[in-house]
Amino acid sequence: MRKKIVAGNWKMNMTFEEGQTLTSEILNMMKDEHSGEAIAVLNPPFPHIFPVKKLIGQAKGVFIGAQNCSDKEAGAFTGEVSAKILASFGAQYVIIGHSERREYFKESNEMLAAKVKLALANGLTPIFCCGESLEIRTAGTHEPNVKFQLTEGLFDLSPEDFSKIVIAYEPIWAIGTGKTASSEEAQDMHAALRRHIASKYGKDIAENTSILYGGSCNPKNAQELFAKPDVDGGLIGGASLKSRDFVDIIKSF
Ligand code: PGA
Repeated sequence: MRKKIVAGNWKMNMTFEEGQTLTSEILNMMKDEHSGEAIAVLNPPFPHIFPVKKLIGQAKGVFIGAQNCSDKEAGAFTGEVSAKILASFGAQYVIIGHSERREYFKESNEMLAAKVKLALANGLTPIFCCGESLEIRTAGTHEPNVKFQLTEGLFDLSPEDFSKIVIAYEPIWAIGTGKTASSEEAQDMHAALRRHIASKYGKDIAENTSILYGGSCNPKNAQELFAKPDVDGGLIGGASLKSRDFVDIIKSF
């Protein structure tokens, strides 16, 4: 059985105080209201990782991740944070290849493949993002485009390593725009990605890979999206900054 995951991507938001308050509220609501199978992964900016992890403590079903890691192991790379450092501060997950990183920071498929390997080598679970631009969706070439991102970023991995990966499909035109993909559009792409994984790693590994949807997911549309057979959760941006919305999304399974 593949995991149901709702991951919050705080992006470059939240001061120390705000992050602590948001986390405490999420933990309290989950304790009181959530008995479902979905787990939560909080992905705050780097400085929050250690204090948020401390707040989470032994809480069940809540995990901590980063939004990025370096493609280098260690050394003179000012401003970068390695997978090893993240793991030593308690991170369990790391988002890799978010479209904002690909676009604004020019992260190539080659770099992303290196990040994935370093994350795995340090015991972090990569949440590998993929997704097409509006231009590509309009041209109708979205399926091969997104499959190619998986091939380039992940298909060098051994079957054992690949089976530790979580995938997040995030159509770029749906991120932060309020324009979510329809549940059918999400399902079609998720099923196509699962077939693509099966063609490389076999049916068992494909069936066990969690594929999350991201892009303007909110408490109103989460239930319909998560009801689709190949949608195993969400990567949530804006709505993860509001405890009530985030927990309602987790409860949508
Ligand atoms: P959004 O962001 O939910 O605000 O659209 C999703 C993401 O970028 O991960």
